[in-house]
Amino acid sequence: MTDPAWGTVDAYLESKLLPHDPVLEACLRTSAEAGLPNIQVSPIQGRLLYLVAKSIGARRILEVGTLGGYSATWLARALPAGGRLVTLEINSKHAEVARTNFARAGLADRVEVRLGPALETFPRLAAEGAGPFDLFFLDADRPNNRAYLDWILRLSRVGSVLMVDNVVRRGEVADSTSDDPSVRGVREMIDTLAAEDRVSATAIQTVGKKGYDGFLLARVERPTPDGLRGGVEGVRPANEDPPR
Ligand code: SAH
Ligand code: DHB
Ligand code: MG
Repeated sequence: MTDPAWGTVDAYLESKLLPHDPVLEACLRTSAEAGLPNIQVSPIQGRLLYLVAKSIGARRILEVGTLGGYSATWLARALPAGGRLVTLEINSKHAEVARTNFARAGLADRVEVRLGPALETFPRLAAEGAGPFDLFFLDADRPNNRAYLDWILRLSRVGSVLMVDNVVRRGEVADSTSDDPSVRGVREMIDTLAAEDRVSATAIQTVGKKGYDGFLLARVERPTPDGLRGGVEGVRPANEDPPR
């Protein structure tokens, strides 16, 4: 299911709303030349990530799934002076391309790429006392989405926002009989959110040059009793807005 109008409208919106951006274009070109898959967010979606980050005043951002650093570049540009973005990537080539792109973008001082399976990096971040993060962008291997959500909640505070890419996938998310591990991973994440009364979540179906898909958007609304989720040593529970 794709309608040619979706791509046409994306091109129209890009031409009107997004100025020519040599840094982002170089990021895409470098990524393509290195043979990375063409699966980064679209420019229109990158701008959305930027606007969300800016609108909530995000100072600490955590991304899962770096690829060539395209979405991370949008997000990092929204950071105020002293802000940090940590992005988790399993593939050393992707991480290397991304680091090149961050350096060219002048963002190397703000962005840290953590190489490794995210399920191994998350406990390290927690043990280091990282967080709470103001904004999370989850865009990696969807079979692990529920496990990632658990870590994200541990590294969050009241007011933290989560965006998740690729939650609709041509409508497959609504298929309760699907045995696709990615569909199941997204559905399990949504089940967790449905059962989690600390969090408000919604999702927006999207069409565009990347086809028919969607973003999930969630906000941590209430603190969790200490230890409810097994409490990780050294991690502040999501009990407080950050000091101002
Ligand atoms: N956010 C990027 C696109 C990410 S594509 C953008 O929009 O620009 C998904 C990325 O997740 C790929 O680079 C892939 O290597 C990475 N990934 C897949 N499984 C992972 C895992 N277990 N841990 C960390 N990264 C993973
Ligand atoms: C795929 C992954 C993505 O994160 C995305 O935005 C689009 C496609 C994929 O694995 O095909
Ligand atoms: Mg994606």
